[in-house]
Amino acid sequence: MQEKILILDFGSQYTQLIARRVRELNVYCEIHPYNHFPQPDESVRGVILSGSPYSVRDAQAPQADLSAIKGRLPMLGVCYGAQYLSQQFGGEVKPSATREYGRAILSKVVANNPLIAGLSDRTQVWMSHGDTIVKIPENYRIIASTDTVPVAAFQIEGEQTWGIQFHPEVYHSTEGKQLLKHFVVDICGCRQQWTPDSFIESTVRELRDKIKGDKVLLGLSGGVDSSVAAELLHKAVGDQLVCIFVDMGLLRKDEFESVLKSYESMGLNVIGVRAGDKFLADLAGVTDPEKKRKIIGRDFIEVFDAEAQKLTDVKWLAQGTIYPDVIESISVNGPSATIKSHHNVGGLPEKMNLKIVEPLRLLFKDEVRRVGRELGMPEHLITRHPFPGPGLAVRILGDITPEKVHTLQEADDIFIQGLRDWKVQDADGNETSLYHQVWQAGVILLPVQSVGVMGDERTYERAVALRAVTSTDAMTADWAHLPYEFLGKVSNDIINKVKGVNRVTYDISSKPPSTIEWE
Ligand code: XMP
Repeated sequence: MQEKILILDFGSQYTQLIARRVRELNVYCEIHPYNHFPQPDESVRGVILSGSPYSVRDAQAPQADLSAIKGRLPMLGVCYGAQYLSQQFGGEVKPSATREYGRAILSKVVANNPLIAGLSDRTQVWMSHGDTIVKIPENYRIIASTDTVPVAAFQIEGEQTWGIQFHPEVYHSTEGKQLLKHFVVDICGCRQQWTPDSFIESTVRELRDKIKGDKVLLGLSGGVDSSVAAELLHKAVGDQLVCIFVDMGLLRKDEFESVLKSYESMGLNVIGVRAGDKFLADLAGVTDPEKKRKIIGRDFIEVFDAEAQKLTDVKWLAQGTIYPDVIESISVNGPSATIKSHHNVGGLPEKMNLKIVEPLRLLFKDEVRRVGRELGMPEHLITRHPFPGPGLAVRILGDITPEKVHTLQEADDIFIQGLRDWKVQDADGNETSLYHQVWQAGVILLPVQSVGVMGDERTYERAVALRAVTSTDAMTADWAHLPYEFLGKVSNDIINKVKGVNRVTYDISSKPPSTIEWE
């Protein structure tokens, strides 16, 4: 049985980060909403209560029924979780005199408490709360404090229940991972067996049991998720897996051919469908971004379905859904709290009457990459930047023409190749490239023409914007601080080599309030 830690989500922006830190310890964990979680069975070794944007004093503060857990299983309350544990059982939580935000130094009060025993005597932690625990219930013992927060960490006497008012999951809590390890490994007794290797082994077994001798269909996009899903399924059911890779005419320069080759060299049974003319014809004259997406979604289903109809005995449709998509749909904040990325292949399973299989639905993106590496997939597929489903259509502002697609492909290729070629050192002194340091990058073709001079002639040509962001999940992002010399070189190259472009700009907006894509 897969042992696990349950994380009850009270809506903090850091909840997923807690889960990722636990997973990095090779311990499996699941996030569930505070008000809707499975009753723990024997696979659950411990429970973590997350932080929250709410104050426990708010009328609408999230209230969890912990009766089946508290005192029976090890429990760790983080921030709101700790305040909730105090307030619910006779303690008192009040607004802090000053908002407790940022770095603080944690000192031990009970040095040998198992949650903190292995940490330095004075260790840096990260605070982020507007409330503070001013009084703990009688049977609670303070185990660590900071200069301004006396109740930084506590344990309930006679129980395996702890609360901490700081965030061990964030990078600035320098020994936070160790604290989490004390909890999940030493206290909860998890055996750290959640590794890419064990995931592959158990998933392959489950896929075989589920799919048996049936055929499975998978839409490949060139992205890391669908590629890893394909490789896993291929390992499980071999040539019963049939992949379809549709060229919508909106991929990067030469990408369809090169990715198709990689898939073939991986031994996948893949059908490449060149349907660019259809997509571009249907998109002609359309300027509204949502309409573009709808047309692309509809055309994709049509093309995919037509290809699938040529196959017989297909029973399953595989999808590259990953864990953040799964948790998001049950988020305590509801979908409106996040500006969500876009799903464009909705409707396929109903239309085709197929059963769904999602081999990656338990994994975070970084885990998908680890699994891909373990499966021996080519590195360029694994480290590939995310790319929007509708492709360059949402990077050509205004209407789309084949000539604009071509112009954008050329400019984009210079930027992306440039990022790959520009070598830098990472924090550990190892050589890497700008491409690997940014989360995602691309060029946007603007619906703007401007005056320039080339030689003796005035020009009146297009402007493009370069976009490169750093991020961990695309929900928030910062513009990448690329070196000026690099931007200068890319600008020169684009203007000199790409016909029809005479101006290059760099987008320095972060998300929020901007988004990564322009449409
Ligand atoms: P935004 O622009 O919302 O993008 O900050 C967040 C992430 O989603 C990608 N994106 C899309 N992906 N279909 C997709 O499959 C779409 O319509 C779409 N629009 C944006 C974007 O590239 C980024 O990674």
